[in-house]
Amino acid sequence: MAIEKTYSMIKPNAVAAGHVGEIITRFERSELSIERIELAALTPEQVKLGYEEHEGKPFYPPLIEFMLSGPVVKMVISGENAVARCREIMGATDPEKAEPGTIRADFGTSVRENAIHGSDSPESAAREISIYFG
Ligand code: RTP
Ligand code: MG
Repeated sequence: MAIEKTYSMIKPNAVAAGHVGEIITRFERSELSIERIELAALTPEQVKLGYEEHEGKPFYPPLIEFMLSGPVVKMVISGENAVARCREIMGATDPEKAEPGTIRADFGTSVRENAIHGSDSPESAAREISIYFG
């Protein structure tokens, strides 16, 4: 039993499409808790740091542009195995490969515009919470 925190954010396409309420409801109905939540426009500095591991990959420039295209909803989510559990609720990176009923299967529109982000380890979560919440 590991109580963890993870960082998650609803991406600009899902905010613009009006899916924030439905996505938040999925976390409220799960055993995880939303500890912190804020609608905000990210700065280029935040996005570049947040996605630093992907710098140099072909999808990096359009990803940065997409993440700056409109407001996101930043969240700190906590609970037992929050990192892995959050990623289960989100589904696979590619919405077409995500399990039915996951956030990405239901609200993602492409691999890039896959509706939501979730940290991939407790270490990434701590780093991302500091980048995005300061
Ligand atoms: P995330 O970091 O957003 O939670 O997603 P992830 O771990 O499932 O995926 P990752 O490999 O870390 O990729 C980060 C984000 O980059 C975009 N992406 N585009 N081939 C592509 O066009 C491509 N691959 C990845 C997605 O927005 C992905 O969530
Ligand atoms: Mg990732």
